[in-house]
Amino acid sequence: MDDLYGLIGAPVAHSLSPAMHNYWFKQYGISAQYRTYLVDRQHLNHAVSRLKESGIKGFNVTYPLKTEILPLLDSVDETAQEIGAVNTVVCSNGRLIGYNTDGAGFLEGLKQHFPELTGKYPSILIIGAGGAARSVALTLARVIGTRVDIANRTFEKAVKLSTACRMYAQSEPLTFRQAEVQLDRYKMVINTTPIGFDIQEKSAFIHLYGARTDTLFADLIYQPRRTVFLKEAEQRGYFVMNGLPMLVYQGALAFAKWNGFVPDTRKMEEHLIHMYLD
Ligand SMILES: NC(=O)c1ccc[n+]([C@@H]2O[C@H](COP(=O)([O-])OP(=O)(O)OC[C@H]3O[C@@H](n4cnc5c(N)ncnc54)[C@H](OP(=O)(O)O)[C@@H]3O)[C@@H](O)[C@H]2O)c1
Repeated sequence: MDDLYGLIGAPVAHSLSPAMHNYWFKQYGISAQYRTYLVDRQHLNHAVSRLKESGIKGFNVTYPLKTEILPLLDSVDETAQEIGAVNTVVCSNGRLIGYNTDGAGFLEGLKQHFPELTGKYPSILIIGAGGAARSVALTLARVIGTRVDIANRTFEKAVKLSTACRMYAQSEPLTFRQAEVQLDRYKMVINTTPIGFDIQEKSAFIHLYGARTDTLFADLIYQPRRTVFLKEAEQRGYFVMNGLPMLVYQGALAFAKWNGFVPDTRKMEEHLIHMYLD
């Protein structure tokens, strides 16, 4: 019988994770299947017990369960504990072990697409202070950033994340307006908010005037491939990167936790663009 892997969260129907993992299983001749499980907060406890009983080998966790799952796990690795969220669970001998590959996934994607940036200890602006921002900001502060500033709509959340980043790098909490007037400080500006599907949202966001010409603008969203934020940055001639590399590399690192090796990622980005993205 095939080994079982999956994704829990709500919604999950739109996720590209099944396409990605099932493609890798086929590519490497692994007898396994990756499925989605629609699970909301109220049913998380029950769902995790059922998954354990089913003999599942591992699963990913997405919105809104990445933090809620923590107390249900037998152990949580240090990085996931610091981030306060788990996106990957390994089920081994009846024990559930939690990891977070989101931040490392973003960094790996960056290394592949803009390797010159990761060696230079860039100054970074993170827009947003939610779960994804936390994993990306803390990873970048720990590994490559000399300065990782946080701009968020709810200022208290920017303060909290910035304080955590200060363990590893310089960091200041900012309002959107404060960030806007000092864009020339940053080599990298990363939008981690869900704004960007919609032109209407633009008014709530920061304007991209005054950044240095070699600044990279990144977004964690990959569908649409160019958010309003990335379109504007591209029109102004800046480097841009969407959320697809992060998706693929966080998935590859989860796959490695389950199978002991990192699968091919370049081909995967091309495959997902060709088959599933506009
Ligand atoms: N590419 C990938 O692999 C990957 C992985 C994980 C997540 N993501 C994407 O990352 C995004 C964020 O996910 P998350 O889990 O971090 O969400 P989250 O925890 O809910 O955080 C959302 C953040 O966006 C801000 N925000 C939301 N609506 C806003 C608005 N209208 N104006 C200004 N700020 C707004 C929130 O600000 P407040 O604090 O003020 O509410 C908060 O900082 C999602 O689009 C998700 O799809 C991508």
